[in-house]
Amino acid sequence: ARADKGEHKHFMAKEIAEQPIVVAEAIRSYMPTGADQVVLPDTDLDFSKLDRLTMVACGTAFYACLTAKYWFEQLAKMPVEVDIASEFRYREPPITDRTLALFVSQSGETADTLAALRYCEGKADKIVSVVNVPESSIARESDVALPIHAGVEIGVASTKAFTCQLSVLLMLALKAAADRGTLSDEELADHAAALRGLPSVLNTALDQNRAIRKSAQRLSEARDVLFLGRGLMYPLAMEGALKLKEISYIHAEGYASGELKHGPIALIDKHMPVVVMAPRDAVFDKTVSNMQEVMARKGKVILVSDDDGIAEAEDGVWSTIRMPHIHPSLAPILYSVPAQLLAYHTAVAKGTDVDQPRNLAKSVTVE
Ligand code: G6P
Repeated sequence: ARADKGEHKHFMAKEIAEQPIVVAEAIRSYMPTGADQVVLPDTDLDFSKLDRLTMVACGTAFYACLTAKYWFEQLAKMPVEVDIASEFRYREPPITDRTLALFVSQSGETADTLAALRYCEGKADKIVSVVNVPESSIARESDVALPIHAGVEIGVASTKAFTCQLSVLLMLALKAAADRGTLSDEELADHAAALRGLPSVLNTALDQNRAIRKSAQRLSEARDVLFLGRGLMYPLAMEGALKLKEISYIHAEGYASGELKHGPIALIDKHMPVVVMAPRDAVFDKTVSNMQEVMARKGKVILVSDDDGIAEAEDGVWSTIRMPHIHPSLAPILYSVPAQLLAYHTAVAKGTDVDQPRNLAKSVTVE
């Protein structure tokens, strides 16, 4: 069937709105109803036999990998390496037969990622891919291909594929934790319950569309925007910046909050909006003190947080975007929604071509 935009002005808006449905589909396909355990289709993948995980991707898929690194390390106590495909392949990194090589790609056709996969053939214990297109080259050349079930994605800026990649990678990390005995049954059940509740929480996040559009109106006048996050929110800060530059052409950078003082703070003045992604989690207080350093230099903070976080830290901020409360492990999936909507509405306010941004291609099959 030919894709159409339905009631939406752009494919990107439609794909953002579809996330509760496609993420639910991704979760159902790896965690069948009633099960607390993650079930992978047709594979004897056993993480207890592996020493390390090497993850490789490009663009948005690379930020999904960076997020997953936190999950595999924290939940499954597994050493993880993440690399950009174009760097990985020419660096000739040593790969042992106790390494799982994991490739993440929406299209499954990205030339650099495919070349990186071929480099690992015959070296790694197994080659696993997380893909949206099951017939793609990357899927065909993997020992195990795990589909993300996002459906066709047309907007060049990846949205629903990103949240489906994250969901599948989190479930893979939970499977690794179960194999390696690093989480208790109770903790595993906790994560499973949180995952099952995720689609409805994503819907609640989408309800913030109007508030986000207001913040985006202000962003659209900026020349540069900084995104800050700590822990699991750090890769998302970089993804938020990537989305914004891709479709609005505003220069944006994502930084680890704690790194602010080592350089980017020199850029802060009254013209600089700073988007702070900060659920009220274990590192919240640290992020808030970085945010206060921004405000002390007249930077304009857009705080994305939950009720507790906003109540505690909203003094002096430019605007707030309110997210529902969520299990800390799942926060990067939920906070993707405001990151995407901020970029989307900023681009719409600027009148750029949201679905077909200049100079970019949906799938890059050249090196
Ligand atoms: C292109 C797209 C990006 C995408 C990247 C990786 O640059 O514009 O949105 O993240 O390729 O694509 P893949 O299909 O491998 O996920």
